[in-house]
Amino acid sequence: MNNWHFPRPQLAKHYLDILALGISSNLAIIAPRRKGKTLFVLQDLSPLAQKNRYLPVYASLWQNINAPHEGLILALEDAIEALDRRAPISRLLKTKIKKTTVSNELLGKMEVEFADKATKVTSKELLLLERMLTELQKKAGKKTVLLLIDEVQHLATSPLFDPLTHALRTMLDKRQGCVKTIFTGSSRHYMNLLFNESQSPFYHFVETVPFPDLGEEFIDFIVIKLDQEHSISINQKSLSQAFDAIDQSPYWMMKLIAHILTFGSDINSAREYILELLEAAEGFEGIAKRMKIIDRVVYLALSEGHNPFSKELLAKIDKETSVKGIPSNIQRSIKRLAQQNLISQIEKGRYYIEKPGLKRYLLESKI
Ligand SMILES: Nc1ncnc2c1ncn2[C@@H]1O[C@H](COP(=O)(O)OP(=O)(O)OP(=O)(O)O)[C@@H](O)[C@H]1O
Ligand SMILES: [Mg+2]
Repeated sequence: MNNWHFPRPQLAKHYLDILALGISSNLAIIAPRRKGKTLFVLQDLSPLAQKNRYLPVYASLWQNINAPHEGLILALEDAIEALDRRAPISRLLKTKIKKTTVSNELLGKMEVEFADKATKVTSKELLLLERMLTELQKKAGKKTVLLLIDEVQHLATSPLFDPLTHALRTMLDKRQGCVKTIFTGSSRHYMNLLFNESQSPFYHFVETVPFPDLGEEFIDFIVIKLDQEHSISINQKSLSQAFDAIDQSPYWMMKLIAHILTFGSDINSAREYILELLEAAEGFEGIAKRMKIIDRVVYLALSEGHNPFSKELLAKIDKETSVKGIPSNIQRSIKRLAQQNLISQIEKGRYYIEKPGLKRYLLESKI
């Protein structure tokens, strides 16, 4: 599905303009899982950045989930090596695009989001990072190094990663905008811990910018492609509704298109199939079974946009669960939901649902 990438050049330009204006040298793009962040950064932003005299270097902190510094070290090593060989940086980016696409093809495997054996970066590795960044800056010549650090929320998931976070801040501070960074990440809860908590080294260091959902232009793009390249005519409205049902995720949209192309199915059956696939891939059954009853009630209230501390909800909890309907129990439940990355709370009283399909699943399955 290589040629199905819907380009977003204006959005890429917008982010680069913010960097160029000098408002901040460090941006953070936050959006839920599978919204197309990585491919946007690699396919839309990097090429434009190259045209604007940047040297983009992509690193995923999930390269080794237990040792996020390894992703950084490897990325710097690869970039230095490419420059030494006078190989085009775009080739390096293409390899990363391929890797991302291939790993996205693997369906059904539950991705591990948290380290099980988190390891602390050693002082030797920190020195290496520092030295390699200096070397890369030198080799970049007149170009500005633009670090594209993916899965940055990972830094907030274990205190063992704190030394790396501190070191990164110092490394970037020292260079005073001569090295710029675009961070991407998927958990608003952990990103918030990283960027907005006063005790975090990244506090007030990074400008958070929204990553808008793909919209009708994306639907148009698909409808036209299906028609022109595959002679399949599809109802625009039905496709748009299916896109809503999968929470505007291009990942699931591409799975849906692949299903239509492979089996010649109509939009409605493809949609049903994809929703089942989504449930299985997200492990909704396991999540639902592990959830305490109070957490389920609170999650459903939050996903309806209701106040979790309302009298009605407290009464419902008293009646339907084995715990007391008191604010401290709700508070604990919210904390559990946030830790499991099912919800995020960024400002006081505002909650975001991180797994929207889960609501439908909980309501329908009544586990
Ligand atoms: N602009 C786009 N046009 C068409 N399809 C897209 C686009 N962006 C993403 N996709 C599809 O969505 C899939 C996931 O994209 P990507 O890996 O960039 O998402 P992500 O937000 O980084 O996800 P994660 O949070 O899991 O890292 C891609 O493999 C591709 O099939
Ligand atoms: Mg990604």
